[in-house]
Amino acid sequence: MNTPTSTYPTHVTLVDVGPRDGLQNEARPVPAAAKIELVQRLQHAGLREIEVTSFVSPKWVPQMADAASVMAAIPRPAGVRHSVLTPNMKGFEAALATRPDEVVIFAAASEAFSQRNINCSIAESIERFRPVVAAARAHGIKVRAAVSCALGCPYQGEVTPDAVEDVVQRLLDIGSQHIGIADTIGVGTAGQVQAVMARALKHVPLHELSGHFHDTYGQALANILASLQMGVHVFDSSVAGLGGCPYAKGATGNVATEDVVYLLHGLGIQTGIDLDALVDAGAFISGVIGRKPVSRVAQALLSRRTPPADTP
Ligand code: HMG
Ligand code: MG
Repeated sequence: MNTPTSTYPTHVTLVDVGPRDGLQNEARPVPAAAKIELVQRLQHAGLREIEVTSFVSPKWVPQMADAASVMAAIPRPAGVRHSVLTPNMKGFEAALATRPDEVVIFAAASEAFSQRNINCSIAESIERFRPVVAAARAHGIKVRAAVSCALGCPYQGEVTPDAVEDVVQRLLDIGSQHIGIADTIGVGTAGQVQAVMARALKHVPLHELSGHFHDTYGQALANILASLQMGVHVFDSSVAGLGGCPYAKGATGNVATEDVVYLLHGLGIQTGIDLDALVDAGAFISGVIGRKPVSRVAQALLSRRTPPADTP
């Protein structure tokens, strides 16, 4: 008889977006050296996909102004894919010089969010991305496309599965090779996630679909489980649960990579990630920004490492 877990994928790929999505919203500058060390530590922990930085306007997102120097200094071992965000050709050209393995374009399923995040309509954003995708593919660089606000928008509220499906199709039409369904403000629930994933799967092969869940309402792990039940096996997450989006007020960070790894290993799903080394990476960057890791798993494991004060 099949156990319930036997229907889950046997291996899941986690893309740690902490250095980019996690740190982009930090008000105080995080030194480039710390970002570089974070990437190094994630690699050491076994992450094979890391979203390193974004080539966006430093006036809009000052924290990412050091994108080129961070990309130039990170170690680039074989087998690790380093991605960067490129909202337009200016960003792509700057990124190209740093040899990214993958570029990420990001459209919204909500008109209001598109305007706030990238200062143009959804249709205009697709036209801006068209040459970026063509140039990336001409250089043999993979293109991942994120669909922001796929489960709700901080400005317009409800976002319909129709709107998500429409943007997915438009992103594929211009040549995007991977689609990420993003819950930018972490409001989605499991049934809603399955409905949206089902729409995306009408157009995207399973191995090129991923989930990107912020954890504002504490639903991200449930949403990952709901996606796993449909066979989705690529997820973005942020070490230590870092982050938030500068254009989504109140939205917290991505689901913590530590928490996702704990869930997956508990289900017998392989990730290639060493949880202890990952907790170290999270503790390192949390120390730099002066906060405790948001990850419950990291907090639990760190507290077990420290002997109580009255221990002889
Ligand atoms: P704009 O002002 O409409 O652009 O911004 P523009 O073309 O009119 O240019 C204005 C100025 O920006 C010019 O400089 C350009 O040179 C410069 P000036 O002449 O005034 O000195 N500029 C750039 N500089 C550096 N790099 C560039 C670039 N492009 C223009 N690439 C733009 C449009 C998209 C650039 C702007 O709105 C922007 O940078 N927005 C930031 C968006 C962002 O980073 N958001 C957060 C990441 S997305 C996210 O977190 C969601 C995700 O995690 C999934 C999810 O959770 O939903 C992916
Ligand atoms: Mg995000």
